[in-house]
Amino acid sequence: MKAATLTDADNMPRSVRANDANRLEMTDLPTPDYYRYPWVAIESVTRTPQGGVLVAWPDGQQLECHPLWLRENCPGPGGIDPRSKENDLDVQDLDISTRIRDAFLDAGALVVEFTPEARQASFHPGWLRHVADGLHHPFSLLPTPKPWTAHDLQIPPTHDGPSVLEDDDAMAAWLHDLLETGLARLTCLPLESQVVGLVGSRIGALRDSNFGVTWHVSVDLDPNSTANTNARLPAHSDLPSRETPPGFQLLHCLENTVSGGQSTMTDGLAVINYLQAKEPDVFRCLTTLEWTFSNRDANHDHRWTGPVVDKGDGRIPWTFRAFHPVRGFPAMSQHEIGNSYRSLQRLGEIANSAEFQIRYELEPGDLIAFDNRRIMHGRESFDSSEGTRQLRGTYLDADEVYSRMRVLARAITSQEQS
Ligand code: OGA
Ligand code: ZN
Repeated sequence: MKAATLTDADNMPRSVRANDANRLEMTDLPTPDYYRYPWVAIESVTRTPQGGVLVAWPDGQQLECHPLWLRENCPGPGGIDPRSKENDLDVQDLDISTRIRDAFLDAGALVVEFTPEARQASFHPGWLRHVADGLHHPFSLLPTPKPWTAHDLQIPPTHDGPSVLEDDDAMAAWLHDLLETGLARLTCLPLESQVVGLVGSRIGALRDSNFGVTWHVSVDLDPNSTANTNARLPAHSDLPSRETPPGFQLLHCLENTVSGGQSTMTDGLAVINYLQAKEPDVFRCLTTLEWTFSNRDANHDHRWTGPVVDKGDGRIPWTFRAFHPVRGFPAMSQHEIGNSYRSLQRLGEIANSAEFQIRYELEPGDLIAFDNRRIMHGRESFDSSEGTRQLRGTYLDADEVYSRMRVLARAITSQEQS
């Protein structure tokens, strides 16, 4: 698609008007968000056949801007509200015939005059550049997950708990490891039952469930979950009986005077990469054959149907639904049920194998955080007559962790620029 080029006569006189005084003014241009963008001056602006513009930077990066999208993102009333930084233009009030009558650069910023509405708007070139670079996409500012096996990782990445409670840079480093590796440990935290809630609330809103906002894992409790027994828990994920299982889980160890009960962790991403490459039929069964999961007690009846490994829509991380105590009913044809059981056994063999699973002691004062949809966690059995093993846990939706990570990264980027 060839874009019509603005003539020099269109461009020059206005560009030349840019001087140091209005450059200062321009660099204060509002943006529709809370980031401070570097002033990445645009080099050229040309017309597109859709009545929009194509802007280009000296390094060759380009962004095609549709006139209706630019009009919606105009700073000020009838566009982006400077207080909420959200759009206050109801799309029904948008004139669908909106075109760009004139476009030029002022100190490297894009200035546009719309028609038929006679409105002029200036756009911060750094904000346009972040769109051109794809930095507005949900996962762009988050660490890329790095799949691991027991060859790559022996113990969870470990950080100092009290520092994370007090300091945002320490928090950012911990969350970075949590998102990259899928798990990260804190040590030396106080042995108080409210600590898991304090750490979780530093990230965002805690996710309530029928176990409460925070909950004990202890053999002393009337077991409404297999977790509250002394049984071994093989590699699993929590609450697969929900439409969206909790994104992240925090477990804080308050007391541990039993032998046994070691914690285990397996990276589901590494397991699924292996199966996809080496055992495609197991991969097919796990990702396509569905089960109905249910989690019930006297007052609750949670149910959801999905595959054991849910690939979602391809944009979100995969979700493991792996907890045999709540996997109730096959939701597949009879001739696939045997295949599904065989694939579940194979998943268990691999996920609990020395090649894929790490095993470590959970000491009092430790807190392990992990991605409950990616990492399969577990524990060894223990002898509860030997002493006490008390954990306190909580869940958070993945959105909370992602949001906190982006905001902390935003603060660090702003510090670097100022
Ligand atoms: C759980 C769980 C692990 C442990 O409560 O879901 O997996 O170490 N607990 O007790
Ligand atoms: Zn669990």
